[in-house]
Amino acid sequence: MSQSRRVQAVQSPVIPEVAALIRATPGTISLGQGVVHYGPPPESFAAIAGFGGQAAEHHYRAATGLPELQEGLRRKLEAENGICLRDDQVLMVTAGSNMGFFHALLAIADPGDEIAMMSPFYFNHEMAVVMANCRPVLVPTDGRYQLRLEAIEAALSPRTRAVVTISPNNPTGAVYDPQALRQVNDLCRARGIYHISDEAYEYFTYGGARHFSPGSLPDSAAHTISLFSFSKTYGLANWRVGYLVAPRCLLRALEKVQDTILICPPVISQLAAIGALEAGPGYCRNFIAALARVRRLCLERLEELHPLCQVPPAEGAFYLLARLDTEVPAMQVVERLVREHRVAAIPGTAFGLREPCHLRIAYGALQPDTVAQGMDRLVSGLRQILKG
Ligand SMILES: Cc1ncc(COP(=O)(O)O)c(C=O)c1O
Repeated sequence: MSQSRRVQAVQSPVIPEVAALIRATPGTISLGQGVVHYGPPPESFAAIAGFGGQAAEHHYRAATGLPELQEGLRRKLEAENGICLRDDQVLMVTAGSNMGFFHALLAIADPGDEIAMMSPFYFNHEMAVVMANCRPVLVPTDGRYQLRLEAIEAALSPRTRAVVTISPNNPTGAVYDPQALRQVNDLCRARGIYHISDEAYEYFTYGGARHFSPGSLPDSAAHTISLFSFSKTYGLANWRVGYLVAPRCLLRALEKVQDTILICPPVISQLAAIGALEAGPGYCRNFIAALARVRRLCLERLEELHPLCQVPPAEGAFYLLARLDTEVPAMQVVERLVREHRVAAIPGTAFGLREPCHLRIAYGALQPDTVAQGMDRLVSGLRQILKG
């Protein structure tokens, strides 16, 4: 029996491939998966402590999320993102923001439609677009992985349904300038297409960089879909809670998709999210201050490999995207790093980067005391590989 052509066309996720390499090489330090080292706040555990004694608590609940969570999210969006939800907008809780992206895609795009996304891309976005039988149109970014408005404009066609931006960015760590995001949002409005803004890393900024939500712009409500996640910010990755803000005209479509795929978000996870909102962003910011030191250390160590390894100084998320001066294909570099040096990273090919060789280094799972060993291995491994 064969697989559908739709799924065959989708690239295979690289993370499980690298995870298998890591499992086969015990003691490997992973700079691979995009996770944080900390877990949820105590308030999340307190919020679920009393859950489950009544049979009714296990029934299906509201498709768009528990009213208490909706309330908390509205307050958060207003206070943290400058998004004051209006009557012509909707808020929907999803099982993670990847699901929010797929929901949005199914709601707005038909087979054959085009979705403009920046190159390098976040692989799950590209995979979702292909899976929806749409066409990802890749837009080049500049040498610092920043947005290039003229390139975005040039990528639009009558079949374009949306432009996707991710800031802070996976895989580059770039934080887009608010002015550039405003221009993209204006362009989308002028062309009658959606601006999908993925803000999964909203609190992860360093130095002078600040996160900006395009959904806070006046005149953005009718064409902006904003995606958020509890996975990174509150260490709730496998609880699967995210949420989206979208124009109300998409509610029927989003409800159809939600009802078909999820019915309702898991209640226990929503309770944990309510607890996380009670803890508030101060909880994440303590960890992010420590991550800023980890990032600095990583950049300093990689600098030792200059000019064979170059890293634009990304000021957000917890990724560095290194450009390597080598003919060795990226996946081979990763295999050698794991087998010979017991350190893992993700090949740039996963993000659509062919030449030159790129590696994504994720430092969110590192702590100040574990980063030294990981970077020692990475730097000495790369030194050998780049020399050869
Ligand atoms: C840009 C981006 N969006 C969304 C996600 C996934 O978020 P969630 O766990 O909420 O589905 C990730 C995870 O790596 C990501 O990098």
